[in-house]
Amino acid sequence: MNRAARRTAALAFGLTLLALPAGAESPPAEAPLLGEELFLSRCAGCHGETGDGKGPLARALSPRPHLTWKGKAWDPDGNGIGNEDADLRLMIRNGAELYGGSSVMLPNPDLSDAQIESLVAHIRELERRYRESLPGPR
Ligand code: HEC
Repeated sequence: MNRAARRTAALAFGLTLLALPAGAESPPAEAPLLGEELFLSRCAGCHGETGDGKGPLARALSPRPHLTWKGKAWDPDGNGIGNEDADLRLMIRNGAELYGGSSVMLPNPDLSDAQIESLVAHIRELERRYRESLPGPR
């Protein structure tokens, strides 16, 4: 290899190194969207698209099943702190009845851990949107 070829090879190698970590570190772009899609198709019927509990399937339910941040914080892992990510995961995986809640909130045994994680992320996003919609200082 002459000098120019070596330099070109070194440059190409350097560019490869630059490109690799960027691709490896960035989170999968479809993750938040997946959570939103899952939520809209499987959860919003009861919980409402915004999490306000006003989904069409929940018309007959009282109270409306708004998500945790608007009401009772379930604590399925029993550590004394409700509404943690771990609590949401357990609730989504196992349903509410196991923890003394409503049998209307069914278990979701077919969802993968990654899908449940993306749902938790979407619920947090809905929670953020709800808080931002409140009047006054936050
Ligand atoms: C058929 C109606 C229905 C569907 C569909 C449904 N839920 Fe629920 N969900 C409920 C009800 C009712 C409760 C309230 C249980 C209680 O308080 O006894 C609840 C409770 C919850 C809670 C606990 C809320 C809190 O205040 O701590 C979470 C989290 C939750 N649901 C997430 C989901 C997710 C995610 C999905 C979709 C995979 C889903 N639910 C689908 C009816 C439903």
